[in-house]
Amino acid sequence: MAAATASGLQLARAALCSSPSASAPITVRSGVCNLAPIISFASSRGIHRQSSPFLHSTLQLSRTIKTETVKLSRGPTEIRAVANDNGAPSGLSIDLRGKRAFIAGIADDNGYGWAIAKSLAAAGAEILVGTWVPALNIFETSLKRGKFDESRVLPNGSMMEISKIYPLDAIYDTLEDVPEDVKTNKRYAGASNWTVQEVAESVKQDFGSIDILVHSLANGPEVGKPLLETSRKGYLAAVSASSYSFVSLLKHFIPIMNPGGSTISLTYIASERIIPGYGGGMSSAKAALESDTRVLAFEAGRRYNIRVNTISAGPLRSRAARAIGFIDTIIEYSMANAPLQKDLLADEIGNAAAFLASPLASAITGTVAYVDNGLHAMGVGVDSPAFSELAMPQAEKRKTPA
Ligand SMILES: NC(=O)c1ccc[n+]([C@@H]2O[C@H](COP(=O)([O-])OP(=O)(O)OC[C@H]3O[C@@H](n4cnc5c(N)ncnc54)[C@H](O)[C@@H]3O)[C@@H](O)[C@H]2O)c1
Repeated sequence: MAAATASGLQLARAALCSSPSASAPITVRSGVCNLAPIISFASSRGIHRQSSPFLHSTLQLSRTIKTETVKLSRGPTEIRAVANDNGAPSGLSIDLRGKRAFIAGIADDNGYGWAIAKSLAAAGAEILVGTWVPALNIFETSLKRGKFDESRVLPNGSMMEISKIYPLDAIYDTLEDVPEDVKTNKRYAGASNWTVQEVAESVKQDFGSIDILVHSLANGPEVGKPLLETSRKGYLAAVSASSYSFVSLLKHFIPIMNPGGSTISLTYIASERIIPGYGGGMSSAKAALESDTRVLAFEAGRRYNIRVNTISAGPLRSRAARAIGFIDTIIEYSMANAPLQKDLLADEIGNAAAFLASPLASAITGTVAYVDNGLHAMGVGVDSPAFSELAMPQAEKRKTPA
């Protein structure tokens, strides 16, 4: 499905300022080209304004869009023209058709990885998934049996398709790194080529290249222990699975990433503020992940024109978070104390990731993007009894401004 829409778009892109058909040549005069033939060409290829209203181009819309003209831009930024029925610009939108994403860390439909995959798919990207080997069987079986069908539905009513699921264990870079007891472990039986290097090679063989890489995985075997009681082994395991795994993914996938590509990981506020209960070196692992985001942004940006960002997400009742044990308390705390008093939806993190992955974020790299209803900005917990006498801003009932 994704491939079909992508090819339509590529046709439209190729058509810009070239001749889409013999009968409707595009006229280019003094750096200005007429958009009308492009729009009619797109329509003739099934790219309709309601369902697929975007025309990619390296052309920038001029203010005279009403007359359907576009100015040639010198900059590298891709700006997309959205034309409504009278030809006027109707807004910007995220369009990832023709892009391919690899998302590491999906094993069910509850986590951030799944939500990000859905947003990327909704924007038109092709989806490849890396699933932790011990969780692979159950994920594939559930998917085949339709257990996730309801949550596969995209905003336009179609179903998210996953082109391929790869077994992955992100704590091993190459086959040589895998200890004998893991190789022979029955949870790994039947799966092969699941080290980071092997997965990158398989993706290269199957698809050639990717444009978007998402790291949505973490593991800290001693997460329930305070840092003071964490063993060296537990601490290093947290950093290996939750931070170095990102370095390793970039190292092995960047060679198959197209220039202009985007990489995204998921972090948590415990990297920079004390969150009791998020132990076992997990806070340290997230701090490393954020620091690495900056250094990798520099290295990958300079050498390969690849962007590196991390999303600091608010609390979600994912499988991993439930395992930590106090996620419901953290969600309640967030609701009581965040600037925005509303549920935080996984889709909101997914949409932020789709934006970061898109050309609209082409100048954003090396950042920690907070998607947490604003909780990170608070200096105190306003639900504390200490503030009971203090007047807090309350939701106002207002008439919608005219
Ligand atoms: N849930 C939250 O409240 C929250 C908040 C902020 C950040 N995050 C981050 O979001 C990311 C996704 O977590 P989630 O909460 O959505 O939970 P999740 O359970 O959906 O995702 C974690 C995934 O990591 C996978 N995984 C664990 N070890 C692995 C390994 N060695 N190799 C490959 N995969 C492995 C698991 O199988 C699972 O699919 C994590 O980085 C997490 O720290 C979560």
